[in-house]
Amino acid sequence: MKKYIYLLISNISLFIVFPLIRLISKSFYEKKILPYVLNLTCNSRPIDYQRKKVIPEASGKVLEIGIGPGSNLKHYDNQKVTSILGIDPSEELNQIAQKRAKKNNLNVEFLIESASSLSVESDSIDTVVSTYALCSIPEPQKTLHEIKRVLKDDGVFIFSEHGLSPNKRVSFIQNITDFFYPKIAGGCHTNRNIEQLISDSGFQFLDLNNIYLPGTQKFLGYNYWGKAKISS
Ligand SMILES: C[S@@+](CC[C@H](N)C(=O)[O-])C[C@H]1O[C@@H](n2cnc3c(N)ncnc32)[C@H](O)[C@@H]1O
Repeated sequence: MKKYIYLLISNISLFIVFPLIRLISKSFYEKKILPYVLNLTCNSRPIDYQRKKVIPEASGKVLEIGIGPGSNLKHYDNQKVTSILGIDPSEELNQIAQKRAKKNNLNVEFLIESASSLSVESDSIDTVVSTYALCSIPEPQKTLHEIKRVLKDDGVFIFSEHGLSPNKRVSFIQNITDFFYPKIAGGCHTNRNIEQLISDSGFQFLDLNNIYLPGTQKFLGYNYWGKAKISS
């Protein structure tokens, strides 16, 4: 019962309330509503469960792209990580992330910039992390090339992302919703083929898993997670 009430509320919000508010005032919606909605959804239980599967694997000098509200910060293993650099173009989400870093007593350096053009030195990072960010970054291929550039030769790319489902019915809905969903969800595309994007960018998977996130609408919930290294 609880699940159906949640789905009903999220559908009413997604398909009626948010588009209406955005129609009335795009800047109010993007500055005052969206950051809090993203913070809320990014901290849902199924997503947090996915974070726990990948984030403790990060080690050494870590770069997190699209760090947003900093929801991964509490999952880093302080014994393995020497430094964290979080980048994201959103000032509003960065304010939330800064509070989280303080709360977790972490020394995180933040840069307000796009992951598709990083000001990070080449061949300098041990682990690049991306969670639920490749869906929203306007130029995912360029970003993956930047990730490859900044990673050390033996560096690892850790990810947990949602994207294109292999199921024809679900992918049909994803292709339809993609016409409007990015407008109300900070540029989040529902139909990116994460596996293909990563492998076409010169990475080799060390580990790749898929699941529909429980309690999440299928068009949003097809999750890819794992690890990749630069192809030899
Ligand atoms: C759905 S949120 C996910 C945030 C965070 N990675 C998490 O796991 O909770 C998508 C994030 O991608 C960020 N983003 C959008 N365009 C970007 C870009 N060009 N470069 C880096 N991050 C970007 C957004 O600001 C937002 O923080």
